[in-house]
Amino acid sequence: MSENNPFPNENNTGHFWDDNLRELSNDPPGWWRIGFHASWIFCIVYFVLYPALPSLDGYTKGTMGWTAVGEYKQDLSAIDQVREKWERQINDPATTPAMIIADDELRNYTVRSAKVLFGDYCAACHGAGGAGNAAMSVSESGYPVLADDDWLYGGTVEQIQTTINNGRKGIMTPYGARLSSDEIEDLAKHVVALSEGSEHAAGKALFMEPTKGGCFACHGMDAKGLAPLGSANLTDAVWRFDVQGGGDNRLASARHTIAHGVNGELMDPQSRNAVMPAFGPLGKSLSEGTIKKLAVYVHQLGGGK
Ligand code: HEC
Ligand code: HEC
Repeated sequence: MSENNPFPNENNTGHFWDDNLRELSNDPPGWWRIGFHASWIFCIVYFVLYPALPSLDGYTKGTMGWTAVGEYKQDLSAIDQVREKWERQINDPATTPAMIIADDELRNYTVRSAKVLFGDYCAACHGAGGAGNAAMSVSESGYPVLADDDWLYGGTVEQIQTTINNGRKGIMTPYGARLSSDEIEDLAKHVVALSEGSEHAAGKALFMEPTKGGCFACHGMDAKGLAPLGSANLTDAVWRFDVQGGGDNRLASARHTIAHGVNGELMDPQSRNAVMPAFGPLGKSLSEGTIKKLAVYVHQLGGGK
């Protein structure tokens, strides 16, 4: 820093380094000053209009009466107004799920709003998007896929609505105490063969013999299942009691189902547990409109008939 000012005609502060590196005291540029004044003016205007400063008994409210909660409520009621038109139609007892599906706008709205309902009420068992939950081991039961076109109780939207409303509990009696383990093995082999498009002769004979298996009584002469009983179609490659990994587990799974039955826990504690809870008045009491929405949603997952 130098004592002598080598630039006496200049607006400088008298601070020098080396020969001519120096600190000037010019006014800041015009654009900077406009920005500076605009910002404090903005602050004052903002503080007057909007809630801003904390005070001992709360905060300054501002002259516009604006609050974040108020704005949120306004947005919400705007959304409700749009929704109400559709909600009224869906909740009208005269509107059937088939009518909802036939109306593009109403169907789109229903599917979107039921997605959240499905997440809340159904996904814990049926998986996100109805992808199902395969059992971890052969003796567990898992939960059926709702997104395919394979149905125990039927895939029309009316049948799906009935399933959700009343719940389902298909019963298969256990055979462990009535048949020998060889007979159960033959039956299991027959069931696996059916799912692969062939047959197992000894197993088929037991399947059709009323005093032995008598399986046809519930699964049908063609083993394709009967929707009113929810007796699985045994001739397709879709396994209701699927096990992670599939493959060799199929035979073990069939053996377990035949020996211990389904929902027969009073007769056999190892019986498969396959209860779809009721969501209508007999169960969780969801509204009729909500159940209609869920039926349409499941129907639209891809496998609806
Ligand atoms: C506690 C677990 C559980 C919950 C929660 C549940 N389900 Fe189920 N659901 C099942 C089981 C188990 C079955 C299969 C019953 C059987 O095997 O007989 C089933 C079967 C079904 C079926 C019949 C599938 C077919 O192939 O015919 C539909 C449709 C269905 N559920 C829809 C729903 C919807 C929609 C919800 C939500 C509102 C829901 N489920 C909630 C366990 C559940
Ligand atoms: C009283 C009726 C009834 C009889 C008799 C019956 N079943 Fe079943 N069976 C069912 C029902 C209902 C289910 C489906 C359970 C479910 O998914 O909720 C089922 C499921 C099965 C399954 C599981 C299929 C899969 O996809 O995982 C097999 C295997 C099976 N039955 C084989 C047999 C055989 C073999 C016999 C004869 C020894 C037999 N059933 C007799 C009602 C019956």
